[in-house]
Amino acid sequence: MRIGLLTGGGDCPGLNAVIRAVVRHSIKGYSSEVVGYLEGWRGPVDNITMPLTMRTTDSIISKGGTILRTSRTNPFKEDRGAERIKENLEKHNLSAIIAVGGEETCSVANKLYKEHNIPIVCIPKTIDNDLNATDFTFGFDTAVNVVAEAIDRLHTTAESHNRVLVCEVMGKHAGWIACYGGIAGGADLILVPEKPVITAEVIDSIKRCHARGRDYSIVVVAEGARFDTDPPANGNGNGDNHTSQQVGFGGIGERLARVINEQTGYETRATTLGHIQRGGSPTAFDRVLATRFGVHAVDLVHQGKFGRMVSLKGNQVTDVPVEDAVDTLKTLDLDLYKVAEVFFG
Ligand code: F6P
Repeated sequence: MRIGLLTGGGDCPGLNAVIRAVVRHSIKGYSSEVVGYLEGWRGPVDNITMPLTMRTTDSIISKGGTILRTSRTNPFKEDRGAERIKENLEKHNLSAIIAVGGEETCSVANKLYKEHNIPIVCIPKTIDNDLNATDFTFGFDTAVNVVAEAIDRLHTTAESHNRVLVCEVMGKHAGWIACYGGIAGGADLILVPEKPVITAEVIDSIKRCHARGRDYSIVVVAEGARFDTDPPANGNGNGDNHTSQQVGFGGIGERLARVINEQTGYETRATTLGHIQRGGSPTAFDRVLATRFGVHAVDLVHQGKFGRMVSLKGNQVTDVPVEDAVDTLKTLDLDLYKVAEVFFG
C-alpha cells in the first residue's frame, strides 16, 4: 500500500515526531510506502510531493516545525480542488491520506471524505488544545512549558522592580494555554476568551494581591480574551482572523497593561510571547503522544477505517469520527479555571 501524508495549519512541536512514526510503522509494520505531500492541502491539490524514507525521517523526532512544511490552503477555495486531489492520488497510486492538523485541516478532511469519498484518517495537533473529541492534542504541552518558563523569568523582573507584568499568550478562541501555563507559572490572575474581562474585577484582584504585602503581580491573558465592553467578535469562532485584528486595536496584553497602569498607578508592562510558543523542540510528552498518534493512524488506514480521527481519551489512544471534532471548538474546562481562581488576588 502507498499512503500520502500531510501537515496542515499552523506549525506545532511534535509534527516531525508524527511524520517519523507514520513512516516507520508503515514501512516496518506493513511494508507500505509513504509519500509526503508538501505545504498542507496545497500538496495534494498542486501535486507537490517528497519521498519519505526511514533514513530521511530517522533523526527528526526532536526537531520543531515540520519537514513537510505547512499552509492554510483550503481545497474548497481552489479551482476543482477536491477533484485535483483525487486525480493526484491516482497519479501516485495512493490508497489513503493521513492528514495531521487542527480544526481547519480536519474540517477539510471530513468534507473530502464525506462528499468526495476520499479515504482519509486525521491526526489532531494544535498548541491551542481547542480541538474537540480528543482530551489533548500534541504541541500543547510544549507551548505550556514555554509559557511556564517565560512566567518564571517575568517573575524575576516583576519582583525586582515592583511591577505588574502582563503576559499575553496564544489562544484565539480558548484559554487552555493561558490557564495551564498560568497555573504552572504561579500567575496572580488569568484572563481567557471564555470569560469577559471586567476592568473593575481585574483592578480589584491586583489591588488585593498588593494589599497582602506583595509589591508585584503577574497577569496572564490569552490573545482572544476580550473586555466586556468590546464589540462582539466577527465570525463563528472557527475563522482564521486574529481577535486583535477583528476588534481593530492593539493586542489585549498592551491594552490591559495600559488600563492597569492608569487605574492602579502601579508600573505595568506587557510581554507578548507570540510564535515563541509554537517553535522549538517538542517536550518528551508531545514526542510520545505524537508517536502514539502516528502509529494508531497507520493501523486505522490498514484496517480500512477512514473518516476517523485519532484521539486521546484519558490515557488511551483511540479513534472517533472526524465529524465529531469539527464545526465547534473545545473551549476551556471551567472547573480547571476554578482551580486557577484559588490563586487570584
Ligand atoms: O496554532 C494556533 C495558533 O497558534 C493560534 O493560537 C494563533 O492565534 C494562530 O495560530 C497564529 O497563527 P499564524 O500567526 O501562523 O497565523
